[in-house]
Amino acid sequence: MARWSCDFRYLLILVVIGFIYTQMKLFATQSEYAEALETAVEAENHCRNQMRLLIDQISMNQENIVVLEEKVKRQEQECEHLRALVQDLEKKGVRSLTREEQAPVAAVVIMACNRADYLERTIKSILKYHSLVASKFPIFVSQDGSNSDVRAKALSYDQLTYMQHLDYEPVRTERPGELIAYYKIARHYKWAMDQLFYKHKFNRVIILEDDMEIAPDFFDYFEAGAGLLDKDKSIMAISSWNDNGQKQFVHDPYMLYRSDFFPGLGWMLAKPTWDELSPKLQENHKGRQFIRPEVCRTYNFGEHGSSLGQFFQQYLKPIKLNDVKVDWKSMNLSYLMEDKFVKHFADMVKNAKPLYGSDLVLKTNNVDGDVRIKYKDQSHFENIAQQFGIFEEWKDGIPRTAYKGVVVFRHQTLKRVFLVGPDSLHQLGIQNVV
Ligand SMILES: *[C@@H]1O[C@H](CO)[C@@H](O)[C@H](O)[C@H]1NC(C)=O
Repeated sequence: MARWSCDFRYLLILVVIGFIYTQMKLFATQSEYAEALETAVEAENHCRNQMRLLIDQISMNQENIVVLEEKVKRQEQECEHLRALVQDLEKKGVRSLTREEQAPVAAVVIMACNRADYLERTIKSILKYHSLVASKFPIFVSQDGSNSDVRAKALSYDQLTYMQHLDYEPVRTERPGELIAYYKIARHYKWAMDQLFYKHKFNRVIILEDDMEIAPDFFDYFEAGAGLLDKDKSIMAISSWNDNGQKQFVHDPYMLYRSDFFPGLGWMLAKPTWDELSPKLQENHKGRQFIRPEVCRTYNFGEHGSSLGQFFQQYLKPIKLNDVKVDWKSMNLSYLMEDKFVKHFADMVKNAKPLYGSDLVLKTNNVDGDVRIKYKDQSHFENIAQQFGIFEEWKDGIPRTAYKGVVVFRHQTLKRVFLVGPDSLHQLGIQNVV
């Protein structure tokens, strides 16, 4: 019995030893397995990182592809523009060869951007009066940017030459709050003028915008104006515009004036003036004047443009566009020369009846013939201008349309009203009147 139990103990020890051995073996296998697992997880992480890097690289490359594709598209567009231009020029080159050469009076350029319908209306208005003077006034459309409707519209007319200003340079404004559009417009103007004066070698350029209609005597007016520009170097530009040209303030389609105020909106510039202006690109016309008509030779229909709607309704819509075919060639315009005009104008002012005090419109109504009213300063001028309904605005120290501080407009059809500045009579050489 004792022997059996002794044997049993041995057996038990053996079993325990066996068990411990098995456990140890098992543990070793397990930790081996855990190590392998850890290595696998590491490998997987590494693999995942690599994949992420690759994905990043792919998406970067895709972005590059998109940029390049856009570039290609833009270059294709430019190529297409250039091809169209070459075709257009070839057509015109052939035509100008077959036509007898006559020195042009001025290039007419329509500044356009992105309003194809407006441009069409402008071109149609110009072509209405253009055929007889086509060789004297070659027409150009200068487009700022790549609006395809505008380009197609301009290229659809054989009578004009298309130019395109593509400017991808970013605009850096000089002062905060300045409009980028202002810089873009200025750059386009400079570019177009340089093209016409220096590349195409015109002596004069008439600048129009893409929202203007012209009067029947527009070209004759500017041809006469070209003669004046040549003779009188104190004339900065010839304008087709009167800021106080609303129906109720104008009467005589033959009357022209000098003005110290730059009227804009349809004007002719000669090359020597551009040589001076171009490098500075700013208006500095010390001592020089503009010629402007009493009745406008352009009409601005651009209600949906840069000018405000209210401004259009009040000032631009009621403008009288001249409808009389004035024979400017037979007109003697020498009264507009600097020395003659001062006297001519002074006589008109001198002969007008002076009015004072309040109720000026009423007093004007009760006078036969022209009247003159003296204003003390800007706010006094604005007050009087408001009573009559003319432009109140001043710029660079002078009221719109002013000549030596005098603003003239019609009242009740024929009567002329002269608003006379504090120093005007002196500047006009008028003595012994008050
Ligand atoms: C034009 O008018 C001026 C006066 O302003 C006169 O001296 C000149 O003789 C005129 N010329 C012609 C061709 O009639």
